[in-house]
Amino acid sequence: MNEPFDAVDVIVAKRDGHRLTAPQIDWVVDAYTRGVVAEEQMSALAMAILLNGMDRGEIARWTAAMIASGERLDFSGLSRPTADKHSTGGVGDKITLPLAPLVASFGVAVPQLSGRGLGHTGGTLDKLESIPGWRAALTNDEMMTQLEQVGAVICQAGSGLAPADRKLYALRDVTGTVEAIPLIATSIMSKKIAEGTGSLVLDVKVGSGAFMKDLDRARELARTMVELGTDAGVRTVALLTDMSVPLGLTAGNALEVRESVEVLAGGGPADVVELTVALAREMLDAAGRPDADPARALADGSAMDAWRAMIAAQAGDVDAELPVARETEVVVAEQDGVLTTLDAYAVGVAAWRLGAGRARKEDPVQAGAGVQLHARPGDRVRAGQPILTLHTDTPERFARAREALVGGVVVDEAGSTTPGPLVIDRIAV
Ligand code: URA
Repeated sequence: MNEPFDAVDVIVAKRDGHRLTAPQIDWVVDAYTRGVVAEEQMSALAMAILLNGMDRGEIARWTAAMIASGERLDFSGLSRPTADKHSTGGVGDKITLPLAPLVASFGVAVPQLSGRGLGHTGGTLDKLESIPGWRAALTNDEMMTQLEQVGAVICQAGSGLAPADRKLYALRDVTGTVEAIPLIATSIMSKKIAEGTGSLVLDVKVGSGAFMKDLDRARELARTMVELGTDAGVRTVALLTDMSVPLGLTAGNALEVRESVEVLAGGGPADVVELTVALAREMLDAAGRPDADPARALADGSAMDAWRAMIAAQAGDVDAELPVARETEVVVAEQDGVLTTLDAYAVGVAAWRLGAGRARKEDPVQAGAGVQLHARPGDRVRAGQPILTLHTDTPERFARAREALVGGVVVDEAGSTTPGPLVIDRIAV
């Protein structure tokens, strides 16, 4: 095939700080997907983008080119409006589990195409797979039927959506270019737009346990994604939320499912309830149901009914006992004082090392492994009082998990701390 551009010219243009033209972007994304632009050329271009950025027009075009590399789903035949949510990922972030059935209980279709975890943040599919029988892989037809009948689907994203992203993401992972905001935004939004949702709520996490440690960068990422979604005709808003402390009192697969069920039963930790309700309000508003009261649906059992239907539709045994780790160890306060630090990243790494997460994508995860929290920052504790319980099937992992917690759990005799707000800001255009 006669190629209209030379990859080196495109790299040099971005290296020298120029805008890429629409035809250049269309070509480079397509040619990379076809294998015509080599991995080393795309890695140079990704680094030039990381260093010199892309403007709003370039970002929109790059996203469109990634969408064009694969299939698009179409939910327009459904009798319900659609609303989706995406979180940039955090420790103990189980919010999708109560949120999807909660929003579906108001007659909104919630397609949650999810992934497995890699690194210190857990994956939604790994959590749900701790439910005996539950099946992550659905065909497009099964997904549509479930959306029409139940309203909520959490399933594995098919390989057909934005294949250019899959290739580029793997390359970024090994070339130090994951952090480029234009590349993160186009990666996330190409998949969400290709998925075909009518509205989208983004939960952009900021803090030690998040991808974005810094508030200004998190805000820029949120704004870029909101603009992209809006320009593509998807009603999009973002909440910037705190991820310096784990969400809730659990990090780990079955542990998080149990906590999610508590929330659906009208209980559960206050921060998980607060964020679930805040995101549900945004999704319901975007889907044309601004008067719906999500807190009521948690209290009156309607969200729980939708959860049971959603799990059963994917062959999950909703009444089965969840797996429990074979061994536990308790981390106690070494002195009297105030728990001033409970660092999300430290807890995430500990849960991962206990077996809740994987180091390589083909590794198995332990359903019962993870960390349970017994105190939150600001709580006064006594020497010897349990702060965390570590769970694993493989006790040789305890030592490495404890190492991860050094400096991440601090009890200060004279200290005090006032936790900041969970929802830091709301970004809409
Ligand atoms: N999640 C994605 O899907 N892509 C990124 O680039 C980062 C997070």
